[in-house]
Amino acid sequence: MKRHDYNAQHREHPEPEEGRRPVPRPVIAWIAVLLVWAVGYYAWQIGKPMLGGDSRSVVEAPAAGDDIDGGAIFSARCASCHQANGQGVPGSFPPLAESAWLLGDPDIPVAIVHDGLQGEIEVQGTTYNGVMPAFGGQLSSAEIAAVLSHVRQAWGNDAAAIKAEQVDAHAEEYGERGAWSPDELRDTFEAP
Ligand code: HEC
Repeated sequence: MKRHDYNAQHREHPEPEEGRRPVPRPVIAWIAVLLVWAVGYYAWQIGKPMLGGDSRSVVEAPAAGDDIDGGAIFSARCASCHQANGQGVPGSFPPLAESAWLLGDPDIPVAIVHDGLQGEIEVQGTTYNGVMPAFGGQLSSAEIAAVLSHVRQAWGNDAAAIKAEQVDAHAEEYGERGAWSPDELRDTFEAP
């Protein structure tokens, strides 16, 4: 055995070198397809409205008044004072069931709910002198119309429904105003 058989240099593998293997054609083809798709997609989007990233169709708001659940609005906004059965709390919150203020001229309940009411009123022989909050800033005209239509036809009440346009007309005529007093309601409408 010759001495150079133990030579570390002799035992080493040759230095690796890069082969001259070209990128396979299918890979090049795939990159080309992706490029065409990307540029094409970009070109296809030119001139379209920016929809914030996706093109899902926009959900339409429900048509005014049609799908609004007046009963649900009553439960959420009115029942705490006027009670779920519409009987109110004698001496504090007047009843909505069989109330002449609610069931007469529709302009009156529209005014009360849109702008509020403060002052002494009598409902079914009991006197009330509280504060009815205004809902004009919190509910849309369609919602006010829906909740009033609901209470005018609940608990045996039998008055005509109220349309969003009637609430709009009221808002247009009286604008941003404070709570009505019972006397103002009597002077302006046919209030009890
Ligand atoms: C914070 C308590 C409160 C809430 C909430 C409330 N009301 Fe009233 N409401 C009153 C009070 C108090 C009066 C009486 C005001 C007065 O004495 O001048 C009144 C009066 C009324 C009247 C006229 C009197 C009658 O009994 O018919 C109507 C109609 C009415 N409210 C409807 C509604 C509707 C509809 C809602 C919900 C959208 C509502 N109220 C929410 C307290 C409330």
